[in-house]
Amino acid sequence: MDVLASVPRSAVYAALTCTLAVLYLALIRVYTTWNYHRTIKHIRNIYDKPGKKEIQPVQIPYSLPFLGNVLDFLDKKPGNFWRKLFQWHPRDTGACTLLLGGRRTHILYGERVISAMFKNKSLMRDVFEQELYEKIFVFPEDQVRNAINGKHHEHEMNAAYMTRPERVNELTDHFCRVLEEVLDKDANDIVNKDSIGLYDWLRDRMFTASTTALFGEEFFKMYPNYCEDFFYFDNNFMSFFFGFPDFTMRQPVARRDQTLKKLEEWSKAMHEKSGGSPVDPEGPAWEPLFGSRLNRARQMDYKVRGLNSRSAACLDLGITFALSSNVIPATGWMLMLILNPEGDPTLLGRVLEELKQAERADGSINVPVLINSALLQSIWTETLRLYTDVLITRNATQDTALPMDEDGKTFIQLKKGDNVFAPSMIGHRDPEAWSDDRAPTDQFYAERFLQEDPKNPGKQIFSMTSVGKFYPFGGGRTICPGRVFAKQEALGALAMVLLRFDFEMLGFVDKDGKATDEFVQPALVYPGTAALAPGGDMKVRMRKRERSS
Ligand code: HEM
Ligand SMILES: *[C@@H]1O[C@H](CO)[C@@H](O)[C@H](O)[C@H]1NC(C)=O
Ligand SMILES: *[C@@H]1O[C@H](CO)[C@@H](O)[C@H](O)[C@H]1NC(C)=O
Repeated sequence: MDVLASVPRSAVYAALTCTLAVLYLALIRVYTTWNYHRTIKHIRNIYDKPGKKEIQPVQIPYSLPFLGNVLDFLDKKPGNFWRKLFQWHPRDTGACTLLLGGRRTHILYGERVISAMFKNKSLMRDVFEQELYEKIFVFPEDQVRNAINGKHHEHEMNAAYMTRPERVNELTDHFCRVLEEVLDKDANDIVNKDSIGLYDWLRDRMFTASTTALFGEEFFKMYPNYCEDFFYFDNNFMSFFFGFPDFTMRQPVARRDQTLKKLEEWSKAMHEKSGGSPVDPEGPAWEPLFGSRLNRARQMDYKVRGLNSRSAACLDLGITFALSSNVIPATGWMLMLILNPEGDPTLLGRVLEELKQAERADGSINVPVLINSALLQSIWTETLRLYTDVLITRNATQDTALPMDEDGKTFIQLKKGDNVFAPSMIGHRDPEAWSDDRAPTDQFYAERFLQEDPKNPGKQIFSMTSVGKFYPFGGGRTICPGRVFAKQEALGALAMVLLRFDFEMLGFVDKDGKATDEFVQPALVYPGTAALAPGGDMKVRMRKRERSS
């Protein structure tokens, strides 16, 4: 008793408060866990009943009020949250619910429910668009309104200048032409270096080529550091999106604003040089000031939509993001996986064989042949499967029922205003969907999507059919309009690099540049970043490849 009496009052209160708080959190955990098991049991019972039946997505247990599952969800190791979740939570539930900072979000992962989500027009991507304008670009209210009201223009432009085959081919041609110039310069210069970071090198060269192909050749003259600034923004993208506190965001905000200012200056200068308005997008495929048809159409459209010059610069940053932040890392992974000395030693030889089939006598690339090569398509698909973390986001604009099973008898009911996420990581790494005697699900296997041609025994063809377990480009009405260009750009770059240079492997480095024995791991990022950036690099020595014919 005496001992207790000698403890100061305030310490007793503090200890009491702590104990109560811990007890409170423990109670929340107990309650949400109890509720979880009750719901799972209910779902199991309901499945066996005949007739139409609605099931509730089950809430995953949590301890923190309001915050709910958010701290676990924001695990920066790609896929880690889902991997841990499905160690105990059954996949066949098809859907569950997370409490993410006060917002209940339904997570969809059943094959059937995901294809239904993509098809249903009541589920819109607008919730993501709005957050993009508000949180990442901090548009004032009127600019948010104008941007959203004119959003359909973007779909039309994308269809006209990004998705139509002859337009995609124009963009690819131009990309390949610029990349060729850039690589030719390297052919004399880089081959004398003792050691270079393969991804670091590739990223810079591809960024130069794709940005020049889009924006025109004046762009880098005015803004030579765009690559660095852009990837700094890219690295912080999800932090803007999740709305972290201001004091952690000062540097990213300052640098974003600087980047936007440079983009505004470029656009202003190009408008002046063009006599006020860009060359007609239906005119030449390309011109030096504003570059591609797509960019010219976009620049004209910003005005039609009532977007001011800052907002226009934001959308220029946005299209750079679309163009570069996914294709470049995906190409980097393909290249590193093909050259990986720990990987299949026959792979590079077989890849080169296919690439040579697509090389014309003058050294240029026959893109249609390239993108229809079986092994290359399988590698592209396998890379997207393993190295993308896409968080498809939809908002229910009305009450919507989504079927959970083939006959649609079991369904979940989304309420108007509900948010849903469909994280690609879950389906892309589902052991049941991809397991193969030849290679486990989590391992890169170049031939995963090859199959013997039934009409032509002995010949391998590419085959990929899943919709609900594989969707690196999303799906439905807002499916990525750049997906064809992405494949052409990635395989085009891969072909040009591998046909020009020989690589001598020197070893791997981690994100701090320290030597390591381990193959490059993805960088730590928040979930939903799309293509994962390499968190390290492969050190190589490059030589000009001897032409073999
Ligand atoms: C490996 C490369 C790429 C991946 C993984 C990727 C992935 C995605 C995803 C997941 C979406 C959202 C789809 C949805 O919500 O249903 C999207 C949208 C979009 N992507 Fe891509 N993308 C890639 C390359 C590109 C390229 C090269 C471009 C442009 C040239 C591009 C332009 C766009 C645009 C403009 C949208 C917005 C569409 C809309 O709002 O309707 N993407 N992309
Ligand atoms: C989501 O949908 C609801 C219902 O239509 C709507 O009221 C809400 O504004 C939407 N949210 C966003 C951010 O678009
Ligand atoms: C989308 O959901 C609504 C409301 O549940 C339903 O009436 C409609 O048939 C669904 N559409 C598709 C294409 O599944």
